[in-house]
Amino acid sequence: VRLVVLVSGSGTNLQALLDAIAEAGPAAYGAEIVAVGADREAIAGLERAERAGLPTFVCKVRDHASRAEWDATLTAATAAYAPDLIVSAGFMKILGPEFLARFGGRVVNTHPALLPSFPGAHGVRDALAYGAKVTGCTVHFVDEGVDTGPIIAQGVVEVRNEDDEAALHERIKEVERTLLVEVVGRLARHGYRIEGRKVCIS
Ligand code: GRF
Repeated sequence: VRLVVLVSGSGTNLQALLDAIAEAGPAAYGAEIVAVGADREAIAGLERAERAGLPTFVCKVRDHASRAEWDATLTAATAAYAPDLIVSAGFMKILGPEFLARFGGRVVNTHPALLPSFPGAHGVRDALAYGAKVTGCTVHFVDEGVDTGPIIAQGVVEVRNEDDEAALHERIKEVERTLLVEVVGRLARHGYRIEGRKVCIS
């Protein structure tokens, strides 16, 4: 299975995928990363990709006249690598209608909260501010909504009284990396179908 990974930041989830694939070998893992895309330059995620010898592409919203044009460019740039699955690993943009029309049902996102609680860009901060005692991460398929698509797997993390956003996010990310690597490998090796809100891994 060919993977394109989309990143916006430090790329530790990308690194976990790279490490898992290197360790098992692409055949045993079931997937290889064929390219890494980003919505901004000069991020650690892109450096990690370059260090791994992978092709990268950057598609910035502000280089485009409209969001629709950006969507078209990102779709074409991604399609050029003929991916079977796309992993949004800390990609901080909402994917557009053209992208989803082309790749719908094949885009996996990871979110640092237990959906449907605390969707959006500040899942960790919002869970903390609410006073939740458990939170975690959710790996799900992307649909037109913000963090609303069918859930594939979730991991639970306890909130500690002394937590601030950074400390809690760090513990969530440990669980998140393991979960993402496991889920992407299972989807790739076994195949899957999406039945309404249920994801069935064959
Ligand atoms: C992850 O926690 C992801 O869920 C969130 O941002 C973080 C990305 O981390 N949206 P990284 O870039 O993979 O290190």
